[in-house]
Amino acid sequence: MRRAVCPGSFDPVTNGHVDVIGRASALYDELVVAVLVNPGKAGLFDVEERMALLREATAELPNVVVTSFSGLLVHWCQRNDVPVVVKGLRAVGDFEYELQMAQMNRELAGVETLFVPTAPQVGHLSSSLVKQIAAFGGDVSHLVPPAVNARLVQKRTEKESS
Ligand code: PNS
Repeated sequence: MRRAVCPGSFDPVTNGHVDVIGRASALYDELVVAVLVNPGKAGLFDVEERMALLREATAELPNVVVTSFSGLLVHWCQRNDVPVVVKGLRAVGDFEYELQMAQMNRELAGVETLFVPTAPQVGHLSSSLVKQIAAFGGDVSHLVPPAVNARLVQKRTEKESS
C-alpha cells in the first residue's frame, strides 16, 4: 500500500489545504493528514478541534486519515512506515524553507518530499491571514470549509460578547 503524510499546523484548515489534500489523496492509497502538537505554541483552535475540522473537511475523501503527532516528523514517518511527506507550495516565498526541510528530512531518515503547487485560486491563502480577517469581522466564508467559517464566526461573537 502506498502511503504519504501531509503534516501541518492546520490552525485552522483552509481551502488551500483542502486543495492540496484532495489532489495528493488521488496519488496514494492512503494519505495521513497529521496535525503538529506544539506545546510551545497555543493556537486559536486546540489540536482536537483542528482534527475534527479536518475530518469534516475531508469527509468525502475515503482514503484520508487524520491524526496528530509531536516531535520530529521523520520519527513519526519511521514509526508508521510512511516514506513520503506531501507539502503544498503557494509561491516562491514558501520554497526556500520547504526545500531546506525536505533536504533535512531526507538526510535524517531518507524520507522523500512531494511538493504540490496549490491551485492559483487558493495560492494566497494562509491560516494566519484567515484568522486575522475573521477576528476583525471580515468574511472568510469563501476561503475556508463551512464548518471552519462557522467556528470562526462563533469565536468572534463569543469574544465580542465577553
Ligand atoms: O503548517 P505548518 O506550521 O507550516 O507546518 C510545519 C510542520 C508541522 C510541517 C513542520 O514544522 C514540522 O514538520 N514540524 C515537526 C518537527 C520537525 O520535524 N522539525 C524538523 C523539520 S526538518
